[in-house]
Amino acid sequence: MRSCIVESSRRHVPVLIIGSGVAGCTAALTLADAGCEVLLINAGDTLADGNSDLAQGGIIYHAAQKPGAPSDAHALEKDILVAGHEYNYRKAVRHLCQQGPRCVDSMLIERAKIAFDRNDDGSYHLTREGGHSAPRILHCADYSGHAIMQGLSAQVEAHANITRLPRRTAIDLLTSRHQARASQCRYEVDNRCLGAYVLNNDSGEPETILADWTVLATGGVGRIFLHSTNAPGCVGTGVAMAFRAGVALANMEFMQFHPTALYEERSHRRSLITEAMRGEGARLLDHKGRNFMRDYDPRGDLAPRDVVAQAMMDEMLHTGAPCLYLDVSGVKQDLPTRFPTVYRNCREAGIDILNEPIPVVPAAHYFCGGILTDLRGRTSLNGLYAIGECSCTGLHGANRLASTSLLEALVWGMDCGTDLVHRIRKERGLSRQLADAIPDWQHEGNERLDDPALVAQDWATIRNTMWNYVGIARTEARLRRAFEDMRDLVRHIHDFYKRTRITRRLVELFHGAQTAYSITQAALRNRTGIGCHHRID
Ligand code: SIN
Repeated sequence: MRSCIVESSRRHVPVLIIGSGVAGCTAALTLADAGCEVLLINAGDTLADGNSDLAQGGIIYHAAQKPGAPSDAHALEKDILVAGHEYNYRKAVRHLCQQGPRCVDSMLIERAKIAFDRNDDGSYHLTREGGHSAPRILHCADYSGHAIMQGLSAQVEAHANITRLPRRTAIDLLTSRHQARASQCRYEVDNRCLGAYVLNNDSGEPETILADWTVLATGGVGRIFLHSTNAPGCVGTGVAMAFRAGVALANMEFMQFHPTALYEERSHRRSLITEAMRGEGARLLDHKGRNFMRDYDPRGDLAPRDVVAQAMMDEMLHTGAPCLYLDVSGVKQDLPTRFPTVYRNCREAGIDILNEPIPVVPAAHYFCGGILTDLRGRTSLNGLYAIGECSCTGLHGANRLASTSLLEALVWGMDCGTDLVHRIRKERGLSRQLADAIPDWQHEGNERLDDPALVAQDWATIRNTMWNYVGIARTEARLRRAFEDMRDLVRHIHDFYKRTRITRRLVELFHGAQTAYSITQAALRNRTGIGCHHRID
């Protein structure tokens, strides 16, 4: 198999994977095991710098039912469709339900040796979350994502076929039509992805990474909202780059808000309070101590997320209360042992969950839309794949069922890797001529205007606008106002970007503004409220 060509800040690799969560790592391992050379880049120091590491609840493992019990695959399909308001792509739902157990077995249990919690009799302890008709979620206490990322990171770091480049922020995709200097490329109808420009966060210099195949696994967008459970870098990097390259996006209006993030009066920090707590007996209370969820839905506290988050907003609006409460006294297990992350985060915020309810508010959590892909992760741009949260496989429809995200990342990560192995063996990579036609990044502007005060103000505008106007409850008037504001801001940041020498701060701001703009545009276009796109007019 072909290997990497490196010339200082310019290299040509067979496969470039941007992003190192569950999706990026499993795609890399699948390729590397088949003998393919992979370059894996991410923005942080370690591989675990994104949302995968923060996942608390767990991963669906519907094969782990009691021996002799009928297969749960059909019941799971139904739960995903009900949660997604039947807006889902049915082929993607079936694919996940059929392939999920095999992927969990081979990649997580056998290969990465993740020690999921077990019962005294040795069987797996399965938990439950909102919208699930049965307990079927495999977990490691409440740090499931962290445990999975530790296992996968060790495999990736030990693999001779995977080269890692940490501290790299992706700037833009390279495409034959947009960047190739050779005039003939401009006339070819078949546009092709040729890799990416990335910023080396240590040297501050842009690098050119040419790739025969490029995989976007850049994660979520939650940090473009004021209150979010997401990791700091989750600003829609992949979505924004795909948008600029003209790649098809889908379901962009569907941002999922998690019902329970820890409310801290003096901080914007919103750490996750896993839904598994409600799955194991916790209940939502209003400021008078009344359990209100059955007033909204017969499934009560275990209704799907969109229903619960919207009911909570309604309650807070009617009472003027800044938060609601999660009463965890009904959880049968020892709280610090079963939920150590929640216990620790609450204790740091001055809340003793053994003796008092947890103040909670909804927060932006998971992006159900993104870069449109097929069942193998292929996008509308030749040579480009997208997997994990930045992609839209259609699995989630209008609202995601809890704990499907790690499984989607795993299944599509492995399928994308397998599809690429076949293509690498059959198809030719970039020709030398095409690779040579791609120039290195041109600094258009050399002004050093990256003033932190300007950047902070633009972020405040984006986050407040998205939270207040494109948040849990939307109206035509709010969306129109947000659309106009975001359109102007994107234009302004684009001009600024052109004049200024780029930095990580600026690149992330540009990605975030463009993602906010495209989400708002999609929300404005869809006049029918459904699922997470909750129109109240
Ligand atoms: C949670 O533990 O509540 C989050 C899990 C998920 O988002 O699926």
